[in-house]
Parts: sequence; C-alpha cells; structure tokens
Amino acid sequence: MFFKKKNFAADIMSADINKVVKDTGLTHIAFIMDGNGRWATAKGLPREAGHSVGVKTFKKTVSRCRDYGIQTVTTYAFSTENWKRPENEVREIMRLLDTYIKEAEDDNEKNRIRYIFLGDKSRLDPRLQEKCSYLENLTQDNPLTLNIALNYGGRSEITQACNALIAKGNAVTEEDISAMLYTRESPDPDLIVRTGGEYRLSNFLLWQAAYAELYFTDCLWPDYDDIELRRAILEFSKRKRRFGGV
Ligand code: FPP
Repeated sequence: MFFKKKNFAADIMSADINKVVKDTGLTHIAFIMDGNGRWATAKGLPREAGHSVGVKTFKKTVSRCRDYGIQTVTTYAFSTENWKRPENEVREIMRLLDTYIKEAEDDNEKNRIRYIFLGDKSRLDPRLQEKCSYLENLTQDNPLTLNIALNYGGRSEITQACNALIAKGNAVTEEDISAMLYTRESPDPDLIVRTGGEYRLSNFLLWQAAYAELYFTDCLWPDYDDIELRRAILEFSKRKRRFGGV
C-alpha cells in the first residue's frame, strides 16, 4: 500500500503539467483557502498563525500557477461575512494584507503580476483602500492577473451590478451583468479549488462558477503544496466540460 501511494505521487510529480494546462485550455484557477484556523489550532498556535503561514502558501501557489502557464488566479482573502470573526483575527488578516501589498509593490519588477481587488473596498481602512488602488494602478499592464477577493460576497457583487445597470436605465442581459461584476476583466474560472474539507462555495464567485469544475481536498490551506496543485490540475484534465451541450 505504501509503495502504491508513493508511486502514485511519483506519477503526479512526473506529469507534464504545462502540457496538461495547454491541452485543456485551463486559464483561470480560483482558490478558497480554507483550513488556516484548524491548522494552527492543531499545532497549539493562535489562529492568526495559520493565516500568516497561509499567506506564504498562497505566494508559493501563485508562483507555481505561473510556472504552469495559468493566466488568472483568484483567491478569497476576506468575505463580507468574515467581519463576524473576533476583532484580533480581523485585525491580523488586515495587517497581513497590508504587508502583502507592500511586498507586492516591492517585487513588482520581478513578479509582473497584475493585482485586482474584488469586493466593496469602502468598508476597509481608508489607508488600505488607497494602497489597494495604488497597487492596481501600478500593476495594470502586467501579464498574470491575480484577483484578491477582499470584503467580497457573491450575492452583494451581483446586487451591485444590477443596481449599476438600473442606474443606467438599461434592459439587463447576462452579458451586462458579467460586465458589471468585480471580475469583469477576467474570464470565468475553469477550476475552483477548495481546501479544508468543506464542500461549498461560501458566497464565492456565484455567478462566475456557473460552469467551473469544482475540486475539494481535505488538505488544510497552509499545507497546500505542489503535489496538491498538480493533483487538482490532473483531475481537471479528466473532466468532460460540456457547458450544457452534449
Ligand atoms: C480561511 O480559513 C481563511 C480566511 C478566511 C482568511 C484568509 C486570509 C489570509 C490567508 C490572509 C490574507 C490573504 C492574502 C491573499 C494576502 P479559516 O480561518 O476559515 O480556517 P478554519 O476553517 O480552519 O477555521
């Protein structure tokens, strides 16, 4: 059994993931990074420590996605419901985001990532709002798009899009709504990965997920590694995408 498992891992590691990505047309992966709190608690650490390691894991994952030829990555950093968490935890997540943005600015020449923050920024600290906008402007011509959902909820995203269309007085089509969503500059995700052993979308990309392939793993986000990413991409390559056709 042990050898079987080891060989399976060896198969995953030897697969040509760049070719799989190209052949399947996989352009956009979205991640629900779940399990940071449980990871930390299991190690006797405060939940915040899980988020801190989660950011490191996220950076590595984005860099692997880039190496595999993925063009758009989206992640759920903070939902409209996450304000219900203890004050300390919210403060620490905001601090991690602040540091992440600073580092993204410093590494811009090296990383060439285009950052887009999805969500209602108005509830964020005004300084953080400014930093988000500055980073978006600074990086707008970079080739790899990284969407960070921050104070994001799928339902509120669709509601604000409808209100924007009503204000314009247009009859509403699906295309109009897509063009008003926070994600309007990205294609819909091909693959949505959720870690942490929960099987739901939790208000993430509700409109955009219409034809996404969903992949769930028990792995807690801070432990998410190359083999997990490869496994998800290989599983995606086995799915038959029919988009409602036959
Ligand atoms: C889910 O795990 C994680 C979050 C809601 C927060 C994720 C935020 C970060 C990693 C920091 C900022 C992100 C970026 C991209 C810079 P959980 O806490 O719900 O885990 P649990 O289910 O084990 O409690």
